[in-house]
Amino acid sequence: MEIRPEQAGDVETIRTLTESAFRDAPHSAQTEARIVDALRAGGALTVSLVATDDAEILGHVAFSPVTILGAEGDWYGLGPVSVWPARQRKGIGQALIRDGLRRLDATGAAGCVVLGDPGYYGRFGFESDPALFYAEVPPGYFQRRVLRGPAPKGEVRYHPGFDVA
Ligand SMILES: CC(C)(COP(=O)(O)OP(=O)(O)OC[C@H]1O[C@@H](n2cnc3c(N)ncnc32)[C@H](O)[C@@H]1OP(=O)(O)O)[C@@H](O)C(=O)NCCC(=O)NCCS
Repeated sequence: MEIRPEQAGDVETIRTLTESAFRDAPHSAQTEARIVDALRAGGALTVSLVATDDAEILGHVAFSPVTILGAEGDWYGLGPVSVWPARQRKGIGQALIRDGLRRLDATGAAGCVVLGDPGYYGRFGFESDPALFYAEVPPGYFQRRVLRGPAPKGEVRYHPGFDVA
């Protein structure tokens, strides 16, 4: 398996993959594929990686800038992350997330947030901090990983690309 940045020819497959991965996901509004497109259109796909096996795309992960207390501080949001349903639970998602975090770190990013199951994201060093919050998300489900600098406090907002209906 190879992990590499998305290329122009990957866009349609990423869209279909994202729709497919989230089709039966709980808490999904089925907007994730459009969110990825909106982030790309807005120049906000800071890191967008695909996992490939020969010519086939197996999974995708996106990272985009977030603001904290309305200011950009070199913090990013992980997601959406998608693996084809038939390929899930084989380590593809983990490989994409670890590689993405490494690449973010290499850019000098200060940190990353994620919205999701702490049972899954804890293994990547994410932890919740009541001082850093997002909307009405229950405690524990919004998590952050500091890469450098102090742990930030305040309300996090995702890129407007996440507001697609
Ligand atoms: C979430 C997702 C990206 C994980 O990728 P994956 O390749 O299936 O997962 P991995 O093989 O890397 O990891 C498997 C491990 O994670 C656990 N896991 C997978 N999905 C999980 C979830 N939603 N919640 C908790 N644990 C999860 C498995 O139990 C397994 O743990 P184990 O190895 O200790 O048994 C993938 O399942 C997916 O596309 N899901 C649908 C879309 C989605 O929910 N995306 C995340 C929200 S942004």
